[in-house]
Amino acid sequence: MTNTLTAMIDQHAEQRDAFIERMLQSASGLFNLFSVYIGDRLGYYRALGAGEWVTSTELATRTQTHERYAREWLEQQTVAAILEVADEREDALWRRYRLPPGHREVLAEPESLNYLAPLAQIAVGAVYPIHALLDAYRNGGGVPYGDYGVDLREGQAGMNRNLFLYELGQQHLPAIADVHARLQSDPPARIADIGCGVGWSSIGMALAYPNVKVDGFDLDEPSIEEAWGYARQYGLTDRLTFHARDAGSLEVLNGRYDLVTAFECVHDLGNPVGVLRTMRRLAGDRGAVIVMDERVGDEFTAQGNEVEWMMYGWSILHCLPVGMAEHQPSAATGTVMRTDTLRGYAREAGFQDVEVLPIDNFFFRFYRLR
Ligand SMILES: C[S@@+](CC[C@H](N)C(=O)[O-])C[C@H]1O[C@@H](n2cnc3c(N)ncnc32)[C@H](O)[C@@H]1O
Repeated sequence: MTNTLTAMIDQHAEQRDAFIERMLQSASGLFNLFSVYIGDRLGYYRALGAGEWVTSTELATRTQTHERYAREWLEQQTVAAILEVADEREDALWRRYRLPPGHREVLAEPESLNYLAPLAQIAVGAVYPIHALLDAYRNGGGVPYGDYGVDLREGQAGMNRNLFLYELGQQHLPAIADVHARLQSDPPARIADIGCGVGWSSIGMALAYPNVKVDGFDLDEPSIEEAWGYARQYGLTDRLTFHARDAGSLEVLNGRYDLVTAFECVHDLGNPVGVLRTMRRLAGDRGAVIVMDERVGDEFTAQGNEVEWMMYGWSILHCLPVGMAEHQPSAATGTVMRTDTLRGYAREAGFQDVEVLPIDNFFFRFYRLR
């Protein structure tokens, strides 16, 4: 064999082995996410309490689950380095486990900005209609949002909830001086929150600005029902109203709003130009239009920017097929909506300019449409 041929075979083997390693690590990550889903949904992480050592029987009793399953899950969580074991040599039924404090914040403290259990829930939701998804790839159709079910809806809501409750009205909107001033002044400002999902953005804005009145609009009826439930929980039904409506058809409300928002939803719309046109009308001459969407790179690169690995993941499983199902013909945007794509939609909808706002967020970019 020549030296060149030997070098080519070595390079192939090295590349193959590195890829096998990556595939196995991915499988490990996948199992971790599924195991977090089980722990979150069954209340295991919450039941593990604040750093206390717990046996499988105690965990099963506290959560009303079956001891044998709880034991297997505890062992799996330990091997996955999510939980700690007090003494691995103890008899299986006497062995004690705990959730380390740093992990507790991520898995069992729903009010923390570092809470990530919803990531497991949205991941499970994203593959729920997997066979319909494959059909859509084959025949060019879409998969309706509702077909992704409760895990996608709740996981999506959980991922953004704390941003909306603890950052949007405290840091992000105050960074837009004229909007912040208007939301604080009289007569009380009116906000239209387009694609509001289960309503956390509307609730966050209503809590941060005690005068404002918010109308949330979303196409998905279960989301709107859930939003009403949270509005009642927070005692905000006098200032919050939720509507199960297509945001592309709200003409009767023209000129009525001081602020019109669309949080992480423009890329999902089958007809983004139609909805942006509606948003422009709702804001009239004086209102502001703010869009928050994924902070992806300006153009496609082989490596992608630091969030694109995730955004492309959501796109191939959920956002693109949902957009393809919603409107015909569909804009078929997908999760990776670049700034120039939004600019194109906005111009078509009658806006003159799209300004990228100097708001710092790892996952999201904020735009003001003028
Ligand atoms: C990715 S979710 C974002 C939900 C919420 N804004 C958040 O950040 O958690 C996109 C939302 O857009 C809604 N949506 C899609 N098309 C819509 C339309 N034409 N009119 C109103 N809402 C729509 C979906 O039902 C879904 O709740």
